Amino acid sequence: MTIGGDAVPQYVSSKWKKTEALLRNRSLQNIIPKTVRFNRIQLKTMLESSGMVYIKPDTGSYGNGVMRVERKKGRYSFQAGERLRTFSTFDFLFEALRKETKSRRYLIQRGIHLLKYKGRRFDLRVMVQLNPKKAWETTGIIGRVAAPRKIVTNFHNGGKPMSATRLLGQHLNKQAMENKINSLEVLGVRTAKTLRRKFPGLRVIGLDVGMDPSLTPWILEVNTNPDPYIFRKLPDPTIFRTIQRYAKAYGRK
Ligand SMILES: Nc1ncnc2c1ncn2[C@@H]1O[C@H](COP(=O)(O)OP(=O)(O)O)[C@@H](O)[C@H]1O
Ligand SMILES: [Mg+2]
Repeated sequence: MTIGGDAVPQYVSSKWKKTEALLRNRSLQNIIPKTVRFNRIQLKTMLESSGMVYIKPDTGSYGNGVMRVERKKGRYSFQAGERLRTFSTFDFLFEALRKETKSRRYLIQRGIHLLKYKGRRFDLRVMVQLNPKKAWETTGIIGRVAAPRKIVTNFHNGGKPMSATRLLGQHLNKQAMENKINSLEVLGVRTAKTLRRKFPGLRVIGLDVGMDPSLTPWILEVNTNPDPYIFRKLPDPTIFRTIQRYAKAYGRK
């Protein structure tokens, strides 16, 4: 499909472009962790201000290439996969990271100390779709628990889908849970509307939302081709059915 000669993409792979588009909405600005391009000075500055950051390939997926970098008691470390490497100086750290990142464009994002379940980090996936009436609707929310000792929650990196209410149930009572889920649904729709202003071809998005210890939600990334199949793991089969029905209506298998 083209408008005015410009192709209208259905997918957007650059995390940088998506973040830029989201930051145009004031109400999203304070729930997107600060994100900058990867370079030596930015890394130094971000580690000084936050202590912990995530580094990720601009167009990556499945959690591949994602690293967690920390500065603690004057020492530096980074973790990729299950491997943790430590360094006595910033320069040694940066030299090692430069080797890991040299072939692609990377971003630095302030790290969120994600809530844990049985010692494993988790985040939430919020599925938002155009419904058959052409309005944005949040159709599903599911938790993803990282494999033990891993820093990413992606299914393709050993993450395990689990009911969001079960994961948040350790921290919230029934009423607070209802409010939290509602506000995540609203956040999903707001995010979709904002992103679609810049990318009108979008029909579906999946937000990766991290929860910090105060249960504040943070948008870690927005996917434009989110996997619907993890929602099959939910005990309520109507959620996956609705997701598939909406996808059919806008022309996705
Ligand atoms: N800023 C962050 N703070 C804490 N965890 C993060 C952060 N960014 C990413 N993660 C973790 O890494 C995973 C993968 O990062 P993400 O940005 O979603 O890239 P990908 O496109 O590979 O899925 C996230 O689902 C989350 O578990
Ligand atoms: Mg992701």
